Order: sequence, then structure tokens, then C-alpha cells
Amino acid sequence: MNILLFGPPGAGKGTQSELLKSQLKMTHISTGDLFRYALKNQTPLGIEAKKYLDAGQLVPDSVTIDMVRDVLGRIDGNSFILDGFPRNIAQADSLEEMLKVLGLKVEKAIFVAVPPNELVERLSGRRVCEKCGATYHISAMPPRVEGVCDRCGGKVIQRSDDRREVIEDRIKVYEQNTRPLKDYYREKGRLVEVDGRGETEEVFLRIKKAMA
Ligand code: AP5
Repeated sequence: MNILLFGPPGAGKGTQSELLKSQLKMTHISTGDLFRYALKNQTPLGIEAKKYLDAGQLVPDSVTIDMVRDVLGRIDGNSFILDGFPRNIAQADSLEEMLKVLGLKVEKAIFVAVPPNELVERLSGRRVCEKCGATYHISAMPPRVEGVCDRCGGKVIQRSDDRREVIEDRIKVYEQNTRPLKDYYREKGRLVEVDGRGETEEVFLRIKKAMA
């Protein structure tokens, strides 16, 4: 089954996608990760995306949609999770068209719900490995050695868009652009809402149930 995970910034989409990837062997397609990877490698796409990422704004649809079309065109038949795409109605409409052309389906649109106060706490405390992208939290899930990634020994840093002032802008962008997707997928009969609060494993069980 192919799914898309959506919800506010910090809802745990990346964390849950990692679990789906390791436990259910699904392919994880994260537009945020794709942009950060392009930026790390200083590709034209990464350089173009940087100003939007740093400001917590959406990268223009034309750029984002082409990037996803390219990735979906190379999918090898494995089940996939779309994480962070679509993020507005125009992207959702484009996704429908792409899937049709490629003969693919996204069966469930899983909305991960977390209240705003908890989002700010999660994002301001988040740290990531600059080498492998592993995610930590300074109090809920710190690395064993401060500043060092458990997985690869890389340096653990704060994302530039996890500064408090940018977090607020990201939540506003989400409210204006992404939240309306709940009605979009409800009308298509594909929406499932999952409570994103509680232990990571509990949330994972809810997502697996939503996929059943
Ligand atoms: P993106 O990387 O997609 O960021 P986001 O949607 O803001 O989501 P996050 O990665 O911040 O949060 P998450 O839900 O994955 O939470 P996580 O699991 O890390 O996008 C970044 C930027 O790229 C955008 O601002 C935009 O500029 C651009 N972009 C991306 N897609 C685009 C698109 N389609 N169109 C245009 N532009 C686009 O968890 C967060 C923290 O909480 C972590 O510290 C984690 O350890 C902790 N945590 C997770 N689960 C729990 C739990 N159950 N309990 C307690 N803590 C938890």
C-alpha cells in the first residue's frame, strides 16, 4: 500500500516514516530531505531552495512538482510513503495527475495530529545528524554522546529552520496551505486522522492500524 503522511511541522512524519521504512520496508520519499540533500551538494535545485527553507516558506510548486514527478517516475514497484508532499491543493491536484499517468495509487492520506504547543517544543528541541540525517531531541531522544550521532558518528546540529522565529512562520504556512488538504482527502474518502501524541511506538501502532 502507498500512503501519504501529512500534518503540521514537527508532527513526527519523518520519525514515523523511518519506522515504516525499517519495519515494513517501504520507500520513504521526503521532499524536505530531497531539498536538504540538494542543498548539501550545492546543486542548482539546492541553491534555489535554500532561501525558502531558511525562511520556512514553501519552495515554488513548479520546482517541487517536477522533483516529485522525477522521483515517482523512478519508483521500482515498492510501496512508498510520501512525506511532506503534497503541501497545498495545487500540489495535490498535480499528484493525482502524476499517479494517473504512472498507473500508481495512494490509498490512504494519513493526517498526524499534534497540538501547536507540543510542535514548538518538539521542533525547538530537535537535533539532526548533518551526515546521515538521523533525528534526535535534546530531552526526549538525545544521542548517547552529546553532539555525536549514535548511528554514524556524524556531528549532531540544529536545523536552520528549527529556530523559534522560523518555527512560527512554518506553522502559519502549514495552517494556510496544508491544513486544507484534510478536506481535500476527506472528500476523496482517503483521509485517516491519527493522534500523533504519546510514545513514538504508540503512534506507529496507530499508523499501522490506519493502513489496515
Ligand atoms: P520538511 O522537512 O518536510 O519539514 P516539516 O514538514 O516542517 O516537517 P519536519 O521535518 O519539521 O517535522 P516532522 O513531522 O518530520 O517531525 P520529526 O519526525 O522530525 O520541510 C522543510 C522545508 O522544505 C519546508 O519548510 C519547505 O521550505 C520545503 N518543502 C518541503 N516539502 C515541500 C513541498 N511539498 N512544497 C514546498 N516546499 C517544501 O519530529 C520532530 C521532533 O519531534 C524530533 O525531535 C523528534 O525526535 C520528535 N518526536 C517525533 N515523534 C515524537 C513523539 N511521538 N513524541 C515526542 N517527540 C517526538
